[in-house]
Amino acid sequence: MKERRRLPAAHETAGGRTSRPARPAGQDWWRHAVIYQIYIRSFADGSGDGIGDIAGIRSRLPYLAELGVDALWITPWYSSPMADGGYDVADHRAIAAEFGTLAEAEELIEEVHRHGLRIVLDLVPNHTSDRHPWFAAARAARPGSVERARYWFRPGRGRDGELPPNDWRSVFGGPAWTRVAGETDTQAEWYLHLFAPEQPDLNWDNPEVRAEFASILRFWFDRGVDGMRVDVAHGLVKDPLLPDLAVDRHDLDGDESGGKPVAGHPHWDRDGVHQIYREWSAIARSYAHTDRGARMFVAEAWRVRPGGLARYLRPGELHTAFNFDFLKCPWDAEAMRACIDDHLTALSEVGAPATWVLSSHDLTRPVTRYGTGGDWTRRRSGLDTGAVDIALGTRRARAAALLMLALPGSAYVYQGEELGLPDVDDLPDHALQDPIWRRSGHRVRGRDGCRVPLPWSGAEPGLGFSAAAPWLPQPSWWRRLSVRAQTATPGSTLTLYRRALRLRRTRAAFRGASLHWIDAGDGILAFGRGAGLECLVNFSARTVPLPGGSTVLLSSSPLESHRLPPDTAVWLRPG
Ligand code: GLC
Repeated sequence: MKERRRLPAAHETAGGRTSRPARPAGQDWWRHAVIYQIYIRSFADGSGDGIGDIAGIRSRLPYLAELGVDALWITPWYSSPMADGGYDVADHRAIAAEFGTLAEAEELIEEVHRHGLRIVLDLVPNHTSDRHPWFAAARAARPGSVERARYWFRPGRGRDGELPPNDWRSVFGGPAWTRVAGETDTQAEWYLHLFAPEQPDLNWDNPEVRAEFASILRFWFDRGVDGMRVDVAHGLVKDPLLPDLAVDRHDLDGDESGGKPVAGHPHWDRDGVHQIYREWSAIARSYAHTDRGARMFVAEAWRVRPGGLARYLRPGELHTAFNFDFLKCPWDAEAMRACIDDHLTALSEVGAPATWVLSSHDLTRPVTRYGTGGDWTRRRSGLDTGAVDIALGTRRARAAALLMLALPGSAYVYQGEELGLPDVDDLPDHALQDPIWRRSGHRVRGRDGCRVPLPWSGAEPGLGFSAAAPWLPQPSWWRRLSVRAQTATPGSTLTLYRRALRLRRTRAAFRGASLHWIDAGDGILAFGRGAGLECLVNFSARTVPLPGGSTVLLSSSPLESHRLPPDTAVWLRPG
């Protein structure tokens, strides 16, 4: 069936014709879509309590449609005690009170579709909240019970079971085991949590767990949700023997985003996860006959063995997976080329599209990353890498955006990336909410710096985000970066994104999977997409001439009379 493409009056010209070109159509829309990540708590607050919510998203749908993205991914909005910003789900079929109601969620899904956009939710299958009814029942039940068999409960080691069952580490710091509170006898078991203690890991060997998540998927797909981002897709299956990790396998406190992947790891990237994804894929395909067509998955899979991402994207498994190597890549033409090549080659072998990403709610924002020498681990490691060169970071982040949006495949834009927001490094200690801050004994500040609410206008106190003080304070100078300020500024980062997304949607050259490299000299990354488009990025310190006869479609910074300055990207129509 044809997708509905009715646009709201606000986006129609006086003559009733739409002013925006069509969105990617058909079942395979995810192969080349631009998907905007909404971290709901920080996007827009409709209720006036300082916390973003569904009402806020609804009020800003015209902004997102105008920006020119194809789909939205909304981070977890489910009922949750918010020990990890909602990645601790207490009820997968209910909405957290601070975000709204299920009825509002259903209305939002419809409205998103009426704007010609698609909507992807966040599925958190590795763990639940410790307040999930299953975990409450497990805690109250006896060792060996069916209630405990949905999680990983084990007796401790040591004379009185006072030591954790093995040496696994939590991604957020400290041991990955907590002893059941309230049990004082020597029978007291421990439970596994690869993240915070409030996030007990589910046992995916248990058929009940599999059936429950199949049902959760159908619950949301039945409501028109177009796809799911799979949280910690590499972590669901554990070695049931729960062997110790050798010391040399330890990395930064078990950090899922760092360290070297290893074969036979007892909890990351185990072969068993693929059977789960084959089952989910069948569920997604079973919607092919519906109005919205088959549904899609995008995997968050950090710790996979080399070349391993493609295994998640084999036919009949997941559809796309974030390429985190791209954002970790140093600011260097050769390194970038190798990173892009590796990803395209590996994925073409399984027929999957590339998926590019420059930031997320977990990572240092590009302006800060490129403004401090590109150290993407900075925020996670807690290292102070010195002052941020905002001007350099902004310049490179803008060039990186044009690079990303010129590549074949799909791309994700994390809210605020289109405004060129930097991280907020000086949040007061008392405001920090990321569990990493507490778990690291206040050593690592965690991810709150990239989660500060968006500046929409210059109005105090919430810069248009909220009528109340936002849950994390915004720097007052951000009013210069607000949507309102940037809309009125021709060379702004927001204007760049709008123009780039429009060109990407309207020019045939951006479609398809082809890319050919062009030799443009040292420090210059250059490639063509068919005959109609070339992208050049200058990673060198010198200004270089552009090819003669070419026409400039868009550049990330002003050109110097048909010459490309350092840290600048350009889209050209070849002569
Ligand atoms: C993913 C999420 C992150 C969360 C973690 C545990 O990495 O992106 O925000 O803390 O999973 O659910």
